[in-house]
Amino acid sequence: MTSAITPVGLLDSDQVKSVLGAAVLAPSTHNTQPWRFRCTPVGLELHADTERALPVVDAGRRELLLSCGAALFNLRTAIHALGAHPATTLLPRRDEPDLLAVVRPFAARKPDPRLVELAGAIPRRHTNRTPFEKAAIPPSVVTRLRHAAEVEQAWLPRLDAVQLARLRELVNKSHHAQLADPAFVAEWRYWTGRGRGSRDGVPDHAAGAMPADDGGWILRDFGTEPSPRRGRIDASDPLVVVIGSFDDTRLDQLRAGQAMQRVLLTATAAGLDASFISQPVEVGSVRGELRDLLGGGLWPQIVLRLGRGKPVAWTPRRSVADVLLEPDRLSA
Ligand SMILES: Cc1cc2nc3c(=O)[nH]c(=O)nc-3n(C[C@H](O)[C@H](O)[C@H](O)COP(=O)(O)O)c2cc1C
Repeated sequence: MTSAITPVGLLDSDQVKSVLGAAVLAPSTHNTQPWRFRCTPVGLELHADTERALPVVDAGRRELLLSCGAALFNLRTAIHALGAHPATTLLPRRDEPDLLAVVRPFAARKPDPRLVELAGAIPRRHTNRTPFEKAAIPPSVVTRLRHAAEVEQAWLPRLDAVQLARLRELVNKSHHAQLADPAFVAEWRYWTGRGRGSRDGVPDHAAGAMPADDGGWILRDFGTEPSPRRGRIDASDPLVVVIGSFDDTRLDQLRAGQAMQRVLLTATAAGLDASFISQPVEVGSVRGELRDLLGGGLWPQIVLRLGRGKPVAWTPRRSVADVLLEPDRLSA
């Protein structure tokens, strides 16, 4: 395949293709990949693909913005690692709400080695739903994770044992509320257990531990075959964190997505695996209880568990050509 993609700012067409390739490796709810990109001579535009929104689990499109924020962080970081400054404007046009960001690569400069390290982690980050080793995460790594959230204007509050126990109850409550909703189940099943050849949705091989009502952490189950060999996640998972924002506007959610991805890549670079526990932020009433649990000042955006799990295979993506808006489609 030859590239007909236009150069953007300082980047030649191969570099544009490579930074977009990094962007599409971002995580997204149910692997919907709800993003589109347009290349103009001066900038890369990130658009929400609202046809890929999830009307039941994400009626407010908050998680769509988190997912697109993660893609934006990858894009910015990959541009930075190529030696260009990714000047980024969020939500630039009020009359075009689906245009989420414009990134203008310009002003060549020496890359920051910490961001180069995060760029290197982009293809190695995969959601890992397997049980994690019990070994505690060193405090210095936890500090780096907190810092990663803060640099992107979000917060990763410390949770004590009492709060973690309550959070497990909230996960349990929201998980069962979702399973009792036939519309949720139909939407989740639609994106689950995709076979070979599918480039979106969550494949069976990405399933990890089975949900168990025994006081541990309950992960959403993307497996189609129940098996005790898949294990369970007990209450002593090494680290469970909440990423929160001070407000809950679309701008905050887009920023929280960038913070989430910076935390995830910082974890990957530190040799940690991660998976998501988003049930308690998806069920509105439970999200309110979680907000109270955090002291009432933060809007919880995502819950992550971190540790060291068994190696997992990657979950497929659509190609760059599939997510380009005209006129910059790649020619065959
Ligand atoms: C906002 C958001 C919420 C998510 N929630 C969950 C979740 O509750 N449970 C889960 O197992 N995975 C969750 N995921 C992970 C996605 O399923 C995963 O990113 C996607 O399948 C792509 O796989 P990858 O992360 O391995 O690249 C979430 C991802 C995002 C961005």
